[in-house]
Amino acid sequence: MKINVEEIKSYIKKPSYPIYVFDRVSSTNAVAWNLMKKKELGFFVIIASEQTKGKGQWGRDWCSLPGGLYLSIGCELKIAAKNASHITLFSAWSIANKLRNYQLPVKLKWPNDLVIEHQKLGGIKSEIKIRDNIITQGIIGIGINWSNMVPENGINLQSYQHRIISIEHLAAIVIEAIISGYQYYLVSGIEVLLKNYMEILDGIGYKTIIKNFEGIISGVNSEGNLEISSQVSKTMTTINLYSGAISLGYSSRF
Ligand code: BTN
Repeated sequence: MKINVEEIKSYIKKPSYPIYVFDRVSSTNAVAWNLMKKKELGFFVIIASEQTKGKGQWGRDWCSLPGGLYLSIGCELKIAAKNASHITLFSAWSIANKLRNYQLPVKLKWPNDLVIEHQKLGGIKSEIKIRDNIITQGIIGIGINWSNMVPENGINLQSYQHRIISIEHLAAIVIEAIISGYQYYLVSGIEVLLKNYMEILDGIGYKTIIKNFEGIISGVNSEGNLEISSQVSKTMTTINLYSGAISLGYSSRF
C-alpha cells in the first residue's frame, strides 16, 4: 500500500515541515535518528508502509505488516529530563482525544497504549536526547492498526465505523495531534493534561495485581507513574514508567 504524501498534506492546515515517505524501512524511529544526525533539525515526519524491525516499548518488537500506520516525528523539545514521561503522556492523550472526535471510542492504557474496548489499537515509542538535564530532541514514534492484520488482543480501524477516510487522513490527524498536544502541555501544564488523560484511562477503578501488590488503579501522577491503591492496607504503590515490561492485567471494577 503506497502512501500518498500529497494527500496527507491536503488534510493539514499549513504543512510547513517535511514529510518523508518510504515503502519499507527497518524502523521509522531509526530513520528519524539518522536524519537528525545529519542535522535535520526542527520538525519533520517519517512514514513507512512497512517496517522490518519496528521498535515497541520496553525493547519489544513492533510487528509492522503492510496496511498499518508507522510514523515518527522528529522534533526539538525543551523539557526537563525528569519529565521525560510527559512526552508519552501528552502524545497518547492528544492522539486518543483527536480520534474520539471521529466517533472512535479510543481510550488509553497506561502508559502508551491506544485501545478500543480493551483491545490494542496502537502504541507510542518515544526516544529522547538529553543535554544538561534538558531534553533537546525527541523522536515520537506512533504505530496504529489501520487495515493490517492484528493479533488476538488487537483491533484495527476497519472493524469500526468512523469518519477517517484513508491512512493518509489518519497520518494527518496523528501529526496534528502531536503538535497540538505538545502546545497544550506547554500552555496548560502536566496537572491539567493528567486530568484529561485520566478521563479516558482504561482500567481506572479496576482491580490489578502488579509485583505482588493488589489494589485498584487509582490514577497517574505527575511523574508519569501509575498509582495503585489498596483498600485493605490503605496504602498506595506507584509503578514506574521505566520499570520494564509489566503486564497490566485488570479484572472487574470495584
Ligand atoms: C508499543 O510497544 O506499544 C509502541 C509501539 C510503537 C511502534 C511505532 S511504529 C512507528 C515507530 N517506529 C518504530 O520503530 N516504532 C514506532
